[in-house]
Amino acid sequence: MVGLPVCGKFLKHISIFPFSKNAAIISFASKNHYPFFELHFMKKQFVLLGAALLCVLSLHAQTYICHSPDGKIRLSLGLNAKGQPEYAVWYKGKPVVETSRLGLKIKDHFSARPDFGLTYAQVAIDSSRFDETWEPVWGEVKTIRNHYKSLILTLRDKAERPSVVKIEFRVFNDGLGFRYDLPDQENLTSFVLVDELSTFNLTGDHKIWWMPGDFDTNEYTYNTTRISEIEKNTKKRDGNIFTSTPIQGAFVQTPLMAKSDDGVYINIHEAALVDYPAMDLQFDAKTFEAKATLAHDASIPEETDPAQKNKAYLRTTARSPWRTLVISDDAREILSSKLILNLNEPSKVKNPSFIKPMKYCGIWLEMHLGLSTWDLAGKQAASDAGSEGKTEKRTKHGATTANTKKYIDFAARNGLGGVLVEGWNTGWEEWFGLWKEDVFDFVTPYPDYDVEEVNRYARSKGVVMITHHETSGSVTNYDRWMDTAYKSMNRWGSPALKSGYVGRIIPRGEYHDGFWMVNHYMRAIRKAAEKNIMVVAHEPVRPTGLHRTWPNFMAAEAARGQEFNFWSEGNPPEHETILPFTRIMGGPMDYTPGIFKIKKSHYYPGAKEQVHTTLAKQLALYITLYSPVQMVTDLPENYDAKPDAFQFIKDVAVDWDDTRILLAEPGDYIATARKAKGSGKWFIGAITDENERTLELGFDFLEKGKTYEATFYKDAPDASWDNNPEAYVIEKKTVTFKSKVPVKLARGGGVAVSVVAK
Ligand code: NOJ
Ligand code: CA
Repeated sequence: MVGLPVCGKFLKHISIFPFSKNAAIISFASKNHYPFFELHFMKKQFVLLGAALLCVLSLHAQTYICHSPDGKIRLSLGLNAKGQPEYAVWYKGKPVVETSRLGLKIKDHFSARPDFGLTYAQVAIDSSRFDETWEPVWGEVKTIRNHYKSLILTLRDKAERPSVVKIEFRVFNDGLGFRYDLPDQENLTSFVLVDELSTFNLTGDHKIWWMPGDFDTNEYTYNTTRISEIEKNTKKRDGNIFTSTPIQGAFVQTPLMAKSDDGVYINIHEAALVDYPAMDLQFDAKTFEAKATLAHDASIPEETDPAQKNKAYLRTTARSPWRTLVISDDAREILSSKLILNLNEPSKVKNPSFIKPMKYCGIWLEMHLGLSTWDLAGKQAASDAGSEGKTEKRTKHGATTANTKKYIDFAARNGLGGVLVEGWNTGWEEWFGLWKEDVFDFVTPYPDYDVEEVNRYARSKGVVMITHHETSGSVTNYDRWMDTAYKSMNRWGSPALKSGYVGRIIPRGEYHDGFWMVNHYMRAIRKAAEKNIMVVAHEPVRPTGLHRTWPNFMAAEAARGQEFNFWSEGNPPEHETILPFTRIMGGPMDYTPGIFKIKKSHYYPGAKEQVHTTLAKQLALYITLYSPVQMVTDLPENYDAKPDAFQFIKDVAVDWDDTRILLAEPGDYIATARKAKGSGKWFIGAITDENERTLELGFDFLEKGKTYEATFYKDAPDASWDNNPEAYVIEKKTVTFKSKVPVKLARGGGVAVSVVAK
């Protein structure tokens, strides 16, 4: 780790301006007009800092300006005439977030604090600069620069028993983050968080890529509309989501991707979601302002206005997650931003040697196709939906010792690191939809599954077993078993866990995204870290960069994964071109790519379900959808039938020294190149939506003066996702850093390329 000086130590409390009657704040009343009177106020401390610090005090009142290190992003922060904190943001001189509110609404445990957060006086302003480079345990790049300037506004509220809140902003070259910090203090100890007042006042009726607000699932497909069109499109909900509780109105989830008419991309999300509920956004369709809306709990009667319900039970010192805005006029920079990771704390895993990125296969797809079952008796299908009863092959239990050994052999033969087995433990007979508390014990295998033997056999072949813990939403039960279950995994020698949170949560009334559950996911990740276990979580709250702090938290689902293609109307061809701009902004996704048998009619004549991509695009997803654990999802026999295409999956890496986003537009296409960790090999994935298109792939990331052999796994000329999706061609070409290769992608298609020095 390379640390550069933090300038903040020079600039503590540069000004203490008790708010006074004449402290009129600059007015931001007009939407497009920002009167600004900047004074280059050279205090002694500024001179000390020289040009390094560009935070400038405004003449008019308590408004502070802070620029990003490269000067492209400008933040203004201050109190308005009523004493309410506000901020606004510009990118290359143009407003991107107009005057927006800041604040929290809290109460004591027995009474509201009616004045809290409404009006404040300023106590202090601190400013600093930070620049360091750090190395993630695994990731898309080898080193990450964390470079920002910060402003911390300390406020005292004007309530009867005044309390202090700090609002901290960090302004990076690619966006900014802000959070609330309630320090330890006399008048505020334990309290209830009722509402967060933060808003993001966007400058126009932007195009946005969004899914409906819902604190219980993020497994929706995405909508692409104007902000003003959210409400009329929220009625069109997806079926086949186990737990959906869509919030009525113009509510959307984050990460939210927006694009202004003049081409500025803005991504809104959060970082370091710890001890706080998740945030959705409620838009005002007329002003285009989005307000933070926090998941509530069930402690207050249902009919109460959600804005008055309890959100979190906190004690000072308490900090909110960071609210993040990633901003650029180049969509590629949104995808390469490390802002969310940078706003998370450094790793707390002292000895990360047990953490190993890997490809894995497993007893999984066969259940989702209805070819075998999770339960012992062979009665439970993945879903009774799909193809009107044509998925009737439910007769055999998948997780047998013999079947597992078949997958272990397949993994060992093809260099995969792990094998996942679902349905290995008792309880699947009544796992779903019954809101049952004591559903699984996570330690008792079915009689046809010898858990110790499969782990021993796997280890003897250089493969690890990924243990599956489906909680079925019964989290009180999981909390009781977690310690015993993780100890059993240690005993068996299984270093990786896939957890799952399908269904309605117990404690009943809690949401997947609420305060209680957010604390549970962290409890599980921390405990797993203590026990040297890697975690892949399905149906958790969507990630917020916590894998920097907890690198054993490898990946999560928390979005609509490939599974929907097997038993529902599926994921439209554009889906995977949106995921990196939305869900994956917060962290890796266990999407489960690599399907070679695209249509379900292969197994069930007449079945209509299918994967909505070509085979070549399935290969490309290993690159375009980032994750340090990638499933090699299809059945071994489907790979054995196409060894030439499978070669790409065998070769592709899962941990990287470098990543270059070559081309990108949300909802349309993405082309990404990644350099494998330690090997110097490059892999490229390029994908398109439902439209056929030709993308020109550049190779300027290659070393000058060297020649490379590039193997292209492309859509055949007559391929498309719906018609002939499995047709591909493999071509070899010599390339250098100067090469530019146009590649035609089929409708719903893609191309995967491996590049090796000659
Ligand atoms: C939903 C998960 O996303 C899927 O991967 C898993 O197979 C099922 N739940 C059963 O646990
Ligand atoms: Ca799922």
